[in-house]
Amino acid sequence: MHAYSLLAPAKINLYLEILGLRADGYHELAMILQSIDLADQIDLRPISTQTIQIHCDRPEVPQDKTNLAYRAAELMCEQFPERFAQFGGIEITITKQIPVAAGLAGGSTDGAAVLVGIDMMWQLGLTQPELQDLAAKLGSDVPFCIAGGTAIATGRGEKLDPLPNLDSLYLVLGKYRSLEVSTAWAYQTYRSQFGHTYIQDSVSLESRAHRVHSGSMVQAILNQNGLQVGQRLYNDLEKVVLPSYPQVLELREAFYNTGALGTMMSGSGPTVFALCESEKQAQEIQQQVRNEIPDPDLEFWVSRFCNQGIQVISPVS
Ligand code: C5P
Repeated sequence: MHAYSLLAPAKINLYLEILGLRADGYHELAMILQSIDLADQIDLRPISTQTIQIHCDRPEVPQDKTNLAYRAAELMCEQFPERFAQFGGIEITITKQIPVAAGLAGGSTDGAAVLVGIDMMWQLGLTQPELQDLAAKLGSDVPFCIAGGTAIATGRGEKLDPLPNLDSLYLVLGKYRSLEVSTAWAYQTYRSQFGHTYIQDSVSLESRAHRVHSGSMVQAILNQNGLQVGQRLYNDLEKVVLPSYPQVLELREAFYNTGALGTMMSGSGPTVFALCESEKQAQEIQQQVRNEIPDPDLEFWVSRFCNQGIQVISPVS
């Protein structure tokens, strides 16, 4: 049996609108998600013991069941017990590039890579929809991470409609190393402050979610117009994260004043990104903001939109 190495790209939210509360306690969302080429590497190797082992170079990444990569492997073992019995356990090595608890789906994309990798290791031949159904059991962003690219996501985030690629854009991301925001906290706080604005009945929720397909961000993407995309970035969670985290607000303002195409917090934050038309502009904006906020805790990455999700780098015999 082969070992596999996979690349697991991060995502940003170009658009995140919270529409209401679902019967399952999650929020009904209308989002536009975009893969970027900042990626973790996941190496999967068969081992003879019936165990799942996780190794990671970063101490802040959990190596137990709280890690989505572990839970993805556990889910595959539960779903395909005869393959688990036949092939034995899995050793997962995560080489982390994506910051943790950053609003970039770092944990979700690692989980997605483990699903794709085990599907190949065990020669299951699962289709993309089958992989995405398994992914939805792990978390709301995991299904998107499988195919990646540019997509509309509705429901909890698991109902996906692909959009044309937008891979000519660059971005600079900024995040305070020591700052993490809990996604559950961000949604709970939003609910307590804005719950009165939620759409109440499920039929209206669904038709409202459908409206994103004809919305202005989708038009900007169809027009392949980077400036329009930058002007139409939107994220409801900024309303609760920015007032609670003044550093994030300051970073957002610093990016805003640079002449980038647009700037926004990604997901539940605290990463803020600025969209750029070239790598050169992204490098210049990174330097400008670094000079303005010379805090050694503030890290930057220059990245590019990418048009795919999990990528297999190499099967190793
Ligand atoms: O699905 P995931 O585990 O990534 O979600 C993390 C948390 O974010 C959930 O426990 C929930 O509190 C919140 N969430 C939500 N509605 C969504 C997605 C996430 O309320 N659509």
